[in-house]
Amino acid sequence: MAEETRERIAPIPRHVAIIMDGNGRWAKQHGLPRLGGHRVGTENLRRVIETMAEYGVEYLTLYAFSTENWNRPVSEVRGLFRILGQVIDRESRALHEKGARICHLGTMEGLDPKLQNKVRQALELTRNNRRITVCIAFNYGGRAEILEAVRRIVREGVPAGTINEEEFRRYLYSSEMPDPDLIIRTGGEMRISNFLLWQSAYSEYYSVPTYWPDFGKDDVEKALIAYSQRQRRFGGLGPGEKRGKAGGGAPPGKAAGS
Ligand code: FPP
Repeated sequence: MAEETRERIAPIPRHVAIIMDGNGRWAKQHGLPRLGGHRVGTENLRRVIETMAEYGVEYLTLYAFSTENWNRPVSEVRGLFRILGQVIDRESRALHEKGARICHLGTMEGLDPKLQNKVRQALELTRNNRRITVCIAFNYGGRAEILEAVRRIVREGVPAGTINEEEFRRYLYSSEMPDPDLIIRTGGEMRISNFLLWQSAYSEYYSVPTYWPDFGKDDVEKALIAYSQRQRRFGGLGPGEKRGKAGGGAPPGKAAGS
């Protein structure tokens, strides 16, 4: 990688999440059926994962199938499941050899038992790897994740007074990961699409018009450079600006952040 690009990228986000959008439009542009777009949308995975790992990103989450995607035609849903199975078959060993740990975010409910098995085997094969964690959000919905956390808390009889943000996050699918620092959306839309709703409270958003199958190493670098130029304040003030005394602030429920 070019030295001047590397120098422009600091700090490195610990966790990057990607909404891989635009496969359908890419397919249309190329005169292919939608599934052709999804299939080609798997060919850049290695490149994107490797670039993130080279820059030192520790966690990469890829939004591959949302709970709402079940509303697509049955043939597309089946095709997406088939493609996921093929990606696991094709990429697990290569990712393992590159030191990547694979994880799954979402529910296995409703998935074909054979696919569930493949996912479990990939998790098992790579569980001790530490170079980068690649999390596939598959059969994932942010609201479903929060509801599931609430159900578990109620089922376990956890006393209401002991629930705070730290405690609550332990019940999310993503409990072992830091919140995403940067969320990239390809395909140009400006929507959250039910992705990491709790975890993205202070994430930086970056939307690019590039369709996912065309998103490559240069695009990853541009996104990381854009992140480097953001000033994160987590609801506080920027460096050098006057701060109030700790302990003051907005009343509960009125807190404002930026
Ligand atoms: C959105 O494009 C993309 C998806 C619903 C699927 C993303 C899946 C892949 C890239 C393949 C599998 C990847 C992994 C990591 C297993 P869209 O169909 O909404 O595109 P459109 O907005 O142009 O119609």
